[in-house]
Amino acid sequence: MVMLEARRHARHATRRSTFYGNLGRPQYPAIKSENVDPVRNPYAPGAGQRPPELAGRDRELRQFEIVLERVARGRPERSMVLTGLRGVGKTVLLNTFRSMAMQRLWGTGKIEARPEQSIRRPVASALHMAVRELAPRHRAPERIEGFLGVLKAFAMRDPQAAKGTSHWSPGIDVPASRGRADSGDLEIDLTELFVDAASVATDLGVGIALFIDEMQDVQAVDVSALCAACHELSQSGGPLIVVGAGLPHLPGVLSASKSYSERLFRYARIDRLDRAAADLALIAPAAREDVEFTEEALDALYEAADGYPYFVQAYGKVAWDLAPASPITADDVKVAAPEAEGELAVGFFGSRYERATPAEREYMHAMASIGDEPVLTSDVAETLKRKPSSLSPARDSLIKKGLIYSAERGLIAFTVPHFGRFLRAQPI
Ligand SMILES: Nc1ncnc2c1ncn2[C@@H]1O[C@H](COP(=O)(O)OP(=O)(O)O)[C@@H](O)[C@H]1O
Ligand SMILES: [Mg+2]
Repeated sequence: MVMLEARRHARHATRRSTFYGNLGRPQYPAIKSENVDPVRNPYAPGAGQRPPELAGRDRELRQFEIVLERVARGRPERSMVLTGLRGVGKTVLLNTFRSMAMQRLWGTGKIEARPEQSIRRPVASALHMAVRELAPRHRAPERIEGFLGVLKAFAMRDPQAAKGTSHWSPGIDVPASRGRADSGDLEIDLTELFVDAASVATDLGVGIALFIDEMQDVQAVDVSALCAACHELSQSGGPLIVVGAGLPHLPGVLSASKSYSERLFRYARIDRLDRAAADLALIAPAAREDVEFTEEALDALYEAADGYPYFVQAYGKVAWDLAPASPITADDVKVAAPEAEGELAVGFFGSRYERATPAEREYMHAMASIGDEPVLTSDVAETLKRKPSSLSPARDSLIKKGLIYSAERGLIAFTVPHFGRFLRAQPI
């Protein structure tokens, strides 16, 4: 391989020099193998960015296949909820699940929950989308229209729409129907809406999947309504599922609102990639561009990225850009690391850090000074020489902002991997 690489390199070098020679330009930019051309860089660091290779998620994909198959056949099945830290690939996996459902000709829709926002409108838009996907194949247009009428009535019960304080309109051009899914009580309305949506899908022998990202941000009353509607559906065997993704404390949020939520959802903890999967995430896309990594480069990359998918993409991307030729070496990774860290400091860590107030930052710095494992809130108070109760507002708003979470009473941890390390390198 080394021989081949050398020859290839020599070939490019000649071609380049003639090219620039003809134009009478200096030999700049430095000769770089065409293979590791930045234009062909496959890596994709960024929230929700589809990775060039979805590595290490076979088990979850298989599980979701089974869910789809069973639900379509009207078999009782728990839906799936993905949980994990930021940057582990929940959104990407949720989007992949959505593609799988679409491939089976299901109707699909997706929402991203926001704190302090009712899910009524987003759910209405998502189900509108889902049913629009099904409509062209449906033999009875009046069934679709009937459902859209109910959907519109449901959407119009949004508190703001009802008050007339908003210019929002559901964009559904059939008259709103009356007497179904429009009571104003979200639990009743969601249940009726889901049952009706499921029955439209049943006509076609398919299902409907509603995806909810950042599910920990759904308001408590809405979580409760959502669980109740799912519970009702699971009993009637209607082919509609709610598939969620959120931070590690999401199971706690759900069970706090309905004790039976454990029986509605199967929790899949999405975590760091093991060494084999992290290597695959780098090697497979590179191979498609005729680029290789040395074993030592992969060692160095695993050490730097620690198996976190976001970091795998970030380090892979910069290493590719800075490597002069294939194979990418450990030295290339070493040169790339500071730049990759710089980009992460701005895009991944900094953007979140900036959302915190001075008091909240102080709280997080205290957490970081204690260690990288989940820390006791009482230890944070001690570090800051404050009364624990006086720190509750900072802690609560950090949880609301999604920067920290509490998986167990009295313990808190960062939602962002390596955040403690980032903070310790940060002036207070
Ligand atoms: N299985 C995977 N293999 C390789 N890269 C992945 C994988 N899952 C996610 N990524 C990458 O990780 C980054 C974060 O993914 P995202 O889905 O936004 O994470 P989350 O929603 O958990 O914060 C993206 O750049 C994405 O391309
Ligand atoms: Mg996400």
